[in-house]
Order: sequence, then structure tokens, then C-alpha cells
Amino acid sequence: MSPAEKRNEVRVLLIEDEQDFAFILEKSMKGCQPQGCQLELQCADRLGKALEVLRERRFDVIFVDLGLPDSQGLETFIKVREAAPNVPVVICSAISDRDMAIESIRLGAQDFMIKDEWDRKMLERVLIYALERQRVLTLKEEFIAMVVHDLRNPVTVIMQVVDQLEKGYCGELTPEQKAFLKLGGHSLEKLHHMIDELFEMSKIELGRSRLEKSRFNLCEMVRETAENLRVLANKKGILLKLELPKKDIFIEADQEKIGNVWVNLGSNAFKFTQEGSVTFRVKEDGNCVQCSVQDTGCGIPKEKQEQLFKKFERLGAKQKGTGLGLVIAKSTIQAHGGKIWVESVPDEGSAFHFILPLVERRHS
Ligand SMILES: Nc1ncnc2c1ncn2[C@@H]1O[C@H](COP(=O)(O)OP(=O)(O)OP(=O)(O)O)[C@@H](O)[C@H]1O
Ligand SMILES: [Mg+2]
Repeated sequence: MSPAEKRNEVRVLLIEDEQDFAFILEKSMKGCQPQGCQLELQCADRLGKALEVLRERRFDVIFVDLGLPDSQGLETFIKVREAAPNVPVVICSAISDRDMAIESIRLGAQDFMIKDEWDRKMLERVLIYALERQRVLTLKEEFIAMVVHDLRNPVTVIMQVVDQLEKGYCGELTPEQKAFLKLGGHSLEKLHHMIDELFEMSKIELGRSRLEKSRFNLCEMVRETAENLRVLANKKGILLKLELPKKDIFIEADQEKIGNVWVNLGSNAFKFTQEGSVTFRVKEDGNCVQCSVQDTGCGIPKEKQEQLFKKFERLGAKQKGTGLGLVIAKSTIQAHGGKIWVESVPDEGSAFHFILPLVERRHS
């Protein structure tokens, strides 16, 4: 059963600034009952507004005009897609945008409708195809989520067993046995981390990743993360620097998820730096707080920087990891209404920055 069938309601978001077209589409949709469900239509006349709505709610189908007052062309589609991965997006284009509409199919759009050519039957067909596609994708994602979830339990149990053995709870171990267990434990930790990332990713894809916000001290979080990663710095002889404001900054956000972003950016910095320094920085910037992790590592070529925040993207085969860390980080920061980006020069280093809205500040 698709999510729409479960709710008995197909949620459609129409992103369109032309009032007349929005009105006609709304009227035509009234009689449609794809998969026997009622249609519920919400409209947004700007991309900014649509992105806000998409943060709050999950839709079954999105219709979008590529030319909006605050966004033009393929960029519009790309931003919608990022904000609603796995939701079928139908392009409503003017005849003059036809080539662009076809290009957006190549980039993953579900379909396109030329505004002057569509009729009610076509609308119904487009909706049904889009919903069917979503049903198949959801089934696949649900299967992956289930498998990944079930993998977590045995791995957690094995980790606990190894931990108990290492602590000598089942008898004294020889140095060789200890060394073997340490090796196994290390691999298990990596496996656990990968499963956690895959699990979070599958929740994001299914639109089931929820923020659990609380108020916490961001500077304290950065100090703790840096301290936990100090062992990596010491191993390589890299200088670990902290640049924090004199007065602590408190934010209202999902503590665990923001913590994971810092851990990923920090461990990436140490992974890809052989000498020099890694700096964790937090500074207030108007209504926002800007956070950065800067390194003096290998850097990233310009043409590869765009790929960084895409799924399973590891630029070099040498380093191990799922390549999901930055995708998850991006999704987390965007879900908080923030932004994440990179500045990097090959052989000089990289700086990953993110900004988060600052709800409230308290001096400690
Ligand atoms: N500070 C950095 N310097 C150079 N390259 C980097 C840096 N951070 C990320 N990258 C590149 O981006 C890729 C993706 O990073 P990401 O954190 O998403 O995945 P990962 O670290 O490979 O695996 P994991 O899912 O465990 O985080 C890395 O594999 C690396 O090629
Ligand atoms: Mg990483």
C-alpha cells in the first residue's frame, strides 16, 4: 500500500506563480481520484515558500513551474528535488521551456506537462503514474530500512560480547588474544557506524527522519567533539584548534543530529589531513550562527566539490566509509532551515561551513 492509500488522501503540492494556471489545475484536480484517494492540494507561489512547506510536510506528488519569481530554470527543479527526495516531481512548463523540461527528466523528474497542451485526462494519467512510481520506490526503501534495522541488533550484541571479553569478565586474556579482540572490535565499530548511517539515510529517503529539538550549548558540544577526536590529531601529529566565542551560544535544535554533523566534519578533516592543523570554529553572524571545520589537508578539486553532498560519493577509493556522512549532514542542516557548503583548494585544505538560525542566545 502506498503512503497515499494508507492516508486515503493524495497530497499534491503545486509550485506555481501564475494564479490562472494554478486555479485551472486546482479545478481539474477536484474530480480526480487516483488510487481511489481524495486529492488534497496545497499551493506555493514561490520556491522559498515551497521549501518551507516541504520542511513541514510530506507530499505524494509535486507539480512545479521552473520559472518562479525567486528561482529560474533547472535550479528550481534541483532545489525541489533536494528538499523532497523520492517524491515524484512533475514539471509544468511553457512551450519555450520544453528542452529544459526534457533535461529535468534526465535529472530525475517524473514527467512534464506543457501548460497549453494538457487536459484533465492527461492530468489523471500523470498523477497515477507518479503515484505508482512512488509506491514502488517506497516498497524498495522500506525493505532496505527493515534489513538495515535488523542488522543493527546482532552487531550491537557482538560489540557488547567483545567488550565484555576485552574487559576480562570471562577470564584473563593473553596479549595476543587481546590484540585480536581489539582488531575485531575496531571493525565492529566501523560496521556499526555504517549501519547507523544507512539507517538514517533510509529514514531520510522515506521522509521519516524527524527532528527532536531541545535547547543546548553549541560551544560545549564543539569542545566535547574536539576532545573526542583529539586521539586522531595526536596520532598524526596534527594541531587541533578551537576558535569559539567568549560567551557560549545556545541553540534550539536536534542535539544528536547536529552532534553527528560535527563528528563527521571533524573526522573527515582528520582523515584527509596528513599535517598541519584542523580548526573548529563557531561565530555568531546576525540571526545565525556560523560553524566551520577547517583543515590543511589534501583539498578537493573544484569540479568534484559539487558531488560531495551526493549519495555514496567518495572522491578517492583509498579512504573507507559509506560516503553518506555529508549527505546526511546536508539533510540535517537543511531540515533546521540552515545551509552547508564547502570551500576548498587542492593541496592547501578545505573548510566546511554551515549556518543555523539562532533562536535565542544566553550568556553563561
Ligand atoms: N575535509 C576533507 N578533505 C578532503 N576531502 C574530503 C573532506 N571531507 C570530505 N571529503 C571527500 O568527500 C567524501 C564524502 O565524505 P562523507 O563524509 O560524505 O563520506 P565518508 O567520510 O567517505 O564516509 P562516511 O559516510 O563514513 O562519512 C569523502 O570520501 C572525501 O572524498
Ligand atoms: Mg565522513
